[in-house]
Amino acid sequence: MARIIGGIGSTHVPAIGGAIAKGLQQDPYWRPFFDGFHATHQWLASHKPDVVVVFYNDHGLNFFLDKMPTFAVGAAESYRHEDEGWGIGFPHPFAGDADLSWHIIENLVADEFDVTTCQEMLVDHAFTIPLSLLWPGDKAPPVKTVPIVVNTVQHPLPSPARCFKLGQSVGRAIESYKPDVNVLVIGTGGLSHQLDGKRAGFINKPFDLMCMEKLVSDPAALTRYSAMDLVEQAGSQGVELLNWIAMRGALTGKVSKIHSNYHIPISNTASAVLLMENESEAKQVPFKKAS
Ligand code: DHB
Ligand code: FE
Repeated sequence: MARIIGGIGSTHVPAIGGAIAKGLQQDPYWRPFFDGFHATHQWLASHKPDVVVVFYNDHGLNFFLDKMPTFAVGAAESYRHEDEGWGIGFPHPFAGDADLSWHIIENLVADEFDVTTCQEMLVDHAFTIPLSLLWPGDKAPPVKTVPIVVNTVQHPLPSPARCFKLGQSVGRAIESYKPDVNVLVIGTGGLSHQLDGKRAGFINKPFDLMCMEKLVSDPAALTRYSAMDLVEQAGSQGVELLNWIAMRGALTGKVSKIHSNYHIPISNTASAVLLMENESEAKQVPFKKAS
């Protein structure tokens, strides 16, 4: 059976792609940010996920404001990135896992999440940047992927409680998937930032740090906020925290923090990475010898 081995929350600021292309990882501005990913590289090398399920928001590449699903699941064998105007290129496609996608879709619909299914889907910086931070280099990451898009862009947004339940349903789906694969769940975006309007440049460090702590120890606490509370506390684009909440919902077992890094600012954003391990309940059942 499939196992959920952990969850990672990661920022997806497009400027990171420019810094990678220019090799600026050791530059004084970028170094404290890129150094925050070394621990995730070690963990990925020893835990070797086969598949990643990525909760993220599309920023107008695949879905535009005229047609905006609240939740959409990719069900393709391969996904491509296209130019969004940020000046970052991605030559390689990303491998899909259509079997796992359809298993997740069937379970979500049975759980009354009436998702949009996408047998063709372009993936934007919110999908590609975290994967290139986790698996640096020019090659495609050595994992299959299942992209799940959450609308954090056009109101009305889904509530934190709904996103948490979406993640829980995805977690149950993964754990009922027969193939013997290790699955890592990722949530991208945030943390606090606001790119436009009167509060452009808004960052809320105390709120971010509280969320990072609650994501590990008491994620249900975050489901008491409304989506508009998140706009107020984290900024109009900081609502990307919804993707992290969905990711955490999918961690069904005993969760422990392995690593985190919080760094202000990257571009206009409070950047963060959080790695949690998920020990499935099944593993915790002590082995009993036959008498
Ligand atoms: C920035 C942050 C984002 O989350 C995004 O999608 C685009 C830009 C930024 O801080 O520049
Ligand atoms: Fe974003």
